[in-house]
Amino acid sequence: MLLTIPDLLTAEQARQCKAVLDQAPWTDGRLTAGAQAARAKHNEQVPADHKAAQQVANALLDALGGNMRFVAAALPLKVLPPTFNRYTGGGTYGNHIDNAIRNLPGTPHKVRTDISATVFLTDPADYDGGELVIEDTYGTHQVKLPAGHMVLYPGTSLHRVTPVTRGARVSAFFWVQSMVRDATQRALLWELDTAIQALHPRVPSDPALVQLTGVYHNLLRQWAET
Ligand code: NI
Repeated sequence: MLLTIPDLLTAEQARQCKAVLDQAPWTDGRLTAGAQAARAKHNEQVPADHKAAQQVANALLDALGGNMRFVAAALPLKVLPPTFNRYTGGGTYGNHIDNAIRNLPGTPHKVRTDISATVFLTDPADYDGGELVIEDTYGTHQVKLPAGHMVLYPGTSLHRVTPVTRGARVSAFFWVQSMVRDATQRALLWELDTAIQALHPRVPSDPALVQLTGVYHNLLRQWAET
């Protein structure tokens, strides 16, 4: 399931985040790539321990925690701190699938990358190219969103970023280990939750709604790991 979360940040918040990152040092993205990914990866990143990266990462984690659409769709168990990349001057990232396991920085803990997320921080009018292209069983999807908007997609997806031929594309990216590992089960829970939320204002005290809500929680109990 490919899902857009509009307005994770307001346009003004996104502009402020980008302004902080614009002042940060940017280094070759290949420094954090495995041998195979390094051949496909041509971008820049802010070192994760730099204070600018930490400041913006914390702002994003706050926004994520308060975003009900994100929480309901991702059912997050662990969220890796967001990191930041910039594509400019033809920068691109060829087709790849993200590594399955990542270390939680500064801890002995590991995170399984069930869900990949990108938060766009640049106004699309300010750059050409830079589409995130995601392939799934239903075909190829091109994603290029307004600043402050986010896309979630299964970590199992083949994806790429097309060359940025004008301007610079700055984004945040991170991974989520979900309480529900299986993407199909996660999508079913999201569909059911969305339907329940839509019915609630119309028939708030209908016993069938209580029953459906019970089904949601009993499926979650079956499938969730905590
Ligand atoms: Ni990737």
